[in-house]
Amino acid sequence: MTANELRQKYLNFFQEKNHAAISSASLIPENDPTVLFTTAGMHPLVPYLLGEKHPTGNRLTNSQKCIRTDDIDEVGDATHHTFFEMMGNWSLGDYFKKEAIDFSWEFLTSSKWLNLDKNRLAVSVFKGDEDAPYDEEAYKIWQEIFSKNNIPEARIAKLPKKNNWWGPAGLTGPCGPDSEMFYWAGEADKVPASFNDDNDLWVEIWNDVFMQYNKLADGSFELLKKPNVDTGLGLERVLAVINGKSDNYQTELFSGLINKIEELSNKKYGIDKETDKSMRIIADHIKAAACIIGDDKGITPSNTDQGYVVRRLIRRAIRHGRQLGIEKKYWTKEVAEMAIAVYKNIYNELEKNKHSILENLDKEEEKFIRTLEKGLIEFKKISIADINGEAAFNLYQSYGFPIEITEELAQESGIKVDRKRFEEELKKHQDLSRTASAGKFKGGLADSSEETTKLHTAAHLLLAALRKVLGEQVTQKGSNITSERLRFDFAYSEKMTPEQIKETEDLVNWAIIANFPVVCEELSLEEAKNRGAMGVFDSKYGERVKVYTASKLTADGTPDINSAFSQEICGGPHVDNTGILGKFKIQKEESSSAGVRRIKAILQN
Ligand code: ALA
Repeated sequence: MTANELRQKYLNFFQEKNHAAISSASLIPENDPTVLFTTAGMHPLVPYLLGEKHPTGNRLTNSQKCIRTDDIDEVGDATHHTFFEMMGNWSLGDYFKKEAIDFSWEFLTSSKWLNLDKNRLAVSVFKGDEDAPYDEEAYKIWQEIFSKNNIPEARIAKLPKKNNWWGPAGLTGPCGPDSEMFYWAGEADKVPASFNDDNDLWVEIWNDVFMQYNKLADGSFELLKKPNVDTGLGLERVLAVINGKSDNYQTELFSGLINKIEELSNKKYGIDKETDKSMRIIADHIKAAACIIGDDKGITPSNTDQGYVVRRLIRRAIRHGRQLGIEKKYWTKEVAEMAIAVYKNIYNELEKNKHSILENLDKEEEKFIRTLEKGLIEFKKISIADINGEAAFNLYQSYGFPIEITEELAQESGIKVDRKRFEEELKKHQDLSRTASAGKFKGGLADSSEETTKLHTAAHLLLAALRKVLGEQVTQKGSNITSERLRFDFAYSEKMTPEQIKETEDLVNWAIIANFPVVCEELSLEEAKNRGAMGVFDSKYGERVKVYTASKLTADGTPDINSAFSQEICGGPHVDNTGILGKFKIQKEESSSAGVRRIKAILQN
């Protein structure tokens, strides 16, 4: 089965069960400063999981692009990735545990769908703790299914929160006990009688989360008025399993990349463990970097936020390339091209942004080569006997010189670097920066505080004003809102003049003083587009969207579209009237990346 067939099967199955298909959201969360990336299919749906009405319905399904960096140390094994696709189905206050588990079982085992061998499946449920009780309901549902199908009951495990609890995606938000499904990837006649969490041959393929709680900023859990279902099926893993591949890199989602790396390194995959690991890391990291840069938000390698993650991914891939003996310069783009080819019909933005992806990879390679050269000069200044953990950390900290390369060079003189000491220094430093970023993220939109809602509306007015002042070619590239300020990125190639900045600020303040009502309407994507609303339109599924309009009202109380100041497709929330925003002030206008400008602005009461 191909990846496209698997994706389509999943969507078809859930469409047959009355779910509406929706498009994948961006890898960069909209207006959620508490996390850098979309980490799960539920992430863009958080407002709806907290009770807001979704314009498309209360049964949804999709395939969502995700980035997870927590598991980065495990990348290199058979099943963990930085970039992956999560297939999901959601019940927004509609069905609950019984239907969710029945759907999962039917999709996995029915001969009409995936037709997996029932005897190779195991599941787990939440065993309970002080926050929430044992999930007896889920256990009983599985017990009935397993007994009907002659599967040993010992393949239903009761596990603690560490295993069977999911969420929230950020610091606060919807979460709850979950039930995970595993497939035995070992030999068919050696399936153990019971499930064992420590055995890697039990591969987790699907997670049904029963979202009953909202985690609050003080760490407590409140019950949601209506419980939801959130599920996630790992596309890469399931594709490997149904095609009988022992690792995800042998599926078509990776094989083109691996072939290219074989060609570049003149080594073969599947012979030596260390070689395989480096090849997997390169394939994973370059794919992830390409997908982040190619995500329409104009992220490029840098020293902050998402840009920093991209930089680390590319540099780590290059290091493993060195380890494999790749000598050629500017090779990462050749691997990226293979990744773009895999996804170009699913995620159109990759093909559209191909030039920028390849160019940025070249630039980052160039920068890293210079970093290595500089680091090497510093390395040589230190007497070889003094290359210890602390010196390695200083080289890393001051010159970005990777520890692995320090180790390599020290090794040549027979010196072993004290890795433990290096890690201790690094940890000390990371703890400090984590405390700093926890402060930075305090009070994000995740808590929907009044200030962030106001700034969110201000962002809409700002985009409208920029388009009036600079021209209609201006489009939004991203925004990041905390309770203190708004950061807004937009496509525009020149620095704004002081006059343009003043004019933009004045226009926003004019719209605030006009006290326009901000009205939310649910429209089809087509209607929204025809009306001239701003937003992303490349949907495959004809889904319905919310459009927020700031304008005068007509006599019948609806927004006067012809004179609207701003119309945007958006999940909300927003203030009811622009008049309450206070005074809008642009603090800074600067370059964010090539062709993208960044404005920092505040509201003064
Ligand atoms: N949100 C759940 C997960 O990521 C489905 O596993």
